[in-house]
Amino acid sequence: MHIDIITVVPGLLESPFSHSILKRAEDKGLAKIQVINLRDYAVGKKKQVDDYAFGGGAGMVMMIEPIARCIEALQKERTYDEIIYMTPDGETFDQPMANALSLHQNLLILCGHYKGIDERVREKYITKEISIGDFVLSGGEIAAAVVADAVIRLIPGVLNDETSALTDSFQDGLLAPPVYTRPANYEGMNVPEVLLSGHEAKINDWRFEASVRRTQERRPDLLNKQENGGSDTASNEK
Ligand code: ADE
Repeated sequence: MHIDIITVVPGLLESPFSHSILKRAEDKGLAKIQVINLRDYAVGKKKQVDDYAFGGGAGMVMMIEPIARCIEALQKERTYDEIIYMTPDGETFDQPMANALSLHQNLLILCGHYKGIDERVREKYITKEISIGDFVLSGGEIAAAVVADAVIRLIPGVLNDETSALTDSFQDGLLAPPVYTRPANYEGMNVPEVLLSGHEAKINDWRFEASVRRTQERRPDLLNKQENGGSDTASNEK
């Protein structure tokens, strides 16, 4: 998978992709992330990428010309399955959306900054708008890193244990069960007996029941979604 990310603050995206699983995905050749500095496509001597909003009001707006030049230059290199704009007024990101995006070859993500981007960019180029939650970040970079992380870890071969993404919270509409490691007894706090039994079927039953209990306690809305035939989930699978 190839993910290109357009930003005016490339430094913000250096670290997330240089460590751990995301770095391993790049090293193994399973994912390639390219961070593009929008300023390289800026107009005029001042290398301008933003301007005052027509109609007045506080805050600058990202201009269409640099973004159009940048996207069109990138489109000469590859065809994108989705051109995504990170924005708090987009569709809320969730696991089914991550699953669907992980099946693509080429993604382009545009990070907003300042007061947002000229609406005409959205009309002309953007195929999908994603929010990572009902709060406002200073820019789309951290949100783009969240989406890229959630998507890349689903690519087969990225995680060492192929099944581990399948047992994540949300993959079956349930939260993951509690997990434990050594010591089995920490200052009188014992690991549930069944996990030490070596009895795979009983362990699986315990994990499933613990998942359901945890979901009932913390996120009953997820169980309601399943009872409604997962209709919320299906609507996200664009
Ligand atoms: N940019 C600013 N806030 C955001 C959010 N919540 N999700 C995605 N992009 C954003």
